[in-house]
Amino acid sequence: MEIIRTVEEMKARARALRSDGSVVGFVPTMGSLHEGHLSLVRMAGELSDSVVVSIFVNPTQFGPNEDLDRYPHDLERDVALLEDAGAAIVFAPEASDIYPRGYATVVHVQRLGEKLCGAFRPGHFDGVCSVVAKLFEIVRPNLAVFGQKDGQQAAILERMVADLEMDVRIIRGPTVREPDGLALSSRNNYLSDEERAEAPVLYASLEHARSLYDSGETDAAKVLGAVRAMIESKPHARVQYISAVDWKSLDDVTELRAGTMLVLAVFFGKTRLIDNLVLGG
Ligand code: PAF
Repeated sequence: MEIIRTVEEMKARARALRSDGSVVGFVPTMGSLHEGHLSLVRMAGELSDSVVVSIFVNPTQFGPNEDLDRYPHDLERDVALLEDAGAAIVFAPEASDIYPRGYATVVHVQRLGEKLCGAFRPGHFDGVCSVVAKLFEIVRPNLAVFGQKDGQQAAILERMVADLEMDVRIIRGPTVREPDGLALSSRNNYLSDEERAEAPVLYASLEHARSLYDSGETDAAKVLGAVRAMIESKPHARVQYISAVDWKSLDDVTELRAGTMLVLAVFFGKTRLIDNLVLGG
C-alpha cells in the first residue's frame, strides 16, 4: 500500500491509474477509522481495481465551537487498518496543501444543506462539499463510497455530483452497528458509561418506528412522536431534531412511505450522535 502526502503526487498517481484503465474506488475519511469505514473500503474494493482512501480532518466543516481540536488522529493505526482492508493508496495531505494561501472557493448545495444537521451546523455541508469536490478533482475516482450513517451528507453529495455533472458514481454503504444497535462513530468514545448505556435507544426507537410503519401507521407526526417519547425517557438524552424526509431529495414527508428516511440528532451529555433508518429497505 502506498502512502501519498501531497496533492501534486496524488494527482500524478491518479492520472497514471486512469491511463492504464483501472477502475478507481475512493473512500474519503477523516481518519480515526473504525469498522464502519473499513466496511466502505471493502465495498469499494469489490467494485473497483484500486481503492484510494483519503485521511484528512477537514477544518472547514467544523464550526467554531465544535470538536476540531479534540478530533483524534492516529495515522499509523489507520494505515495498518487500511492495509488489512485492501486499500491500494492512502492519501493524507496537509491542510496547507488542500487550502493554500488565497484559497477562496466554496461549493454550496442549496436547501438540502440548510436543514436537519445543516440548520444546527451552519456552513458544515459547505465545508464537506467543497473538500469532497476538491478531493474528487485530485483523485479522479470512478466511484466513491459514503456511509448511510451520514444519510444527509450522502444525499447532498449525490445532488452536487448530479448538478455539476461530476463523472463519479456515489454509492452508499450500510451503517455498521454495535451488537446493541448503536451506530459506530468515533464520537461514541466520548460517551460516559451511563450515556453509552442509554445511547442504543436511538436505533431501538427507529426500529420501533419501522414496526409501527410495518403495521400500517403512515402518519409521520405520530410515528416521530413515538420516537421522541422513547428517546426522552432516557435521562441523559436531549433531542436536537427528529424528522421524516425523502432519502434522496431530503424533502419533508408527512405520510410515511418506502424511501422515507427517519433521521435524528441527539445529545448525550456533550456528545452529539446522529442516526437514521430508511423505510422499505
Ligand atoms: O464523512 C466524513 O468523514 C467527512 O465529512 C468527509 C466526507 C470525509 C469530508 O471531510
